[in-house]
Amino acid sequence: MKINNRLKTIGDLVPLSSYPLDIGCDHALLSIYLVKEKGIKKAVASDNKSGPLKKAKENVNFYKVKDKVELIEAEGLNSYKEGIDTITISGMGGLNINRILENNKSYLKNINTIILSPNNYSIAVKRKLIKLGYYISDEKLVKENNIIYQILVFMKGRKYYSYKKLYLGPVLMTKEDELTKEYYKKELETKRSLLEALPKSFYSKIRLTKKEIKYLEDVLKK
Ligand SMILES: C[S@@+](CC[C@H](N)C(=O)[O-])C[C@H]1O[C@@H](n2cnc3c(N)ncnc32)[C@H](O)[C@@H]1O
Repeated sequence: MKINNRLKTIGDLVPLSSYPLDIGCDHALLSIYLVKEKGIKKAVASDNKSGPLKKAKENVNFYKVKDKVELIEAEGLNSYKEGIDTITISGMGGLNINRILENNKSYLKNINTIILSPNNYSIAVKRKLIKLGYYISDEKLVKENNIIYQILVFMKGRKYYSYKKLYLGPVLMTKEDELTKEYYKKELETKRSLLEALPKSFYSKIRLTKKEIKYLEDVLKK
């Protein structure tokens, strides 16, 4: 089936024996990929708007997976069903993702794996998930249409992270491939421009930005 690299990468990170819920599914292609190509027995795809779900229904019918992909119109985690143990959320702002998880955190007691691809605020997302009792088990980057997307995998458990590890990514900072370097270089450019633009009175932001620039320069020296 046709699926973009970003969604395929997320799908390939979903445990094969899981019962996954994709929140903000839009077209539902991720859940369809999981049951059609990865052998996952059943999946739930949900969205809080009827337009995307109409498209999702068409896709589920087109790929003949009506019996395996359940579509639910619901706000955030209200689509949770007994037995679900994995959640995916991608293509949304980080603060929206945090709100979704925080609003119904009681459901998280049964969730072992959470795979997130926030469009922004990734540090806030990492902090929230750590607070909710998860650690970062994997981090991937995918480049599409000249945009580098981050994919974060969280598993139940506790780990301590220094700000440096949280910022650079505890898994990502151990990688030395070209895309990771490109990602850090872009981040370095952004931070250098930010530092130039910051008003002199923003002492703590200036201190933090300088620290982040140093982390990026060091990791790029490897
Ligand atoms: C940009 S699309 C991303 C679709 C897909 N997950 C992807 O990564 O390609 C975001 C989808 O999330 C849905 N959405 C946004 N906030 C939501 C919420 N609080 N609960 C459920 N769905 C939400 C939107 O309706 C939209 O269909």
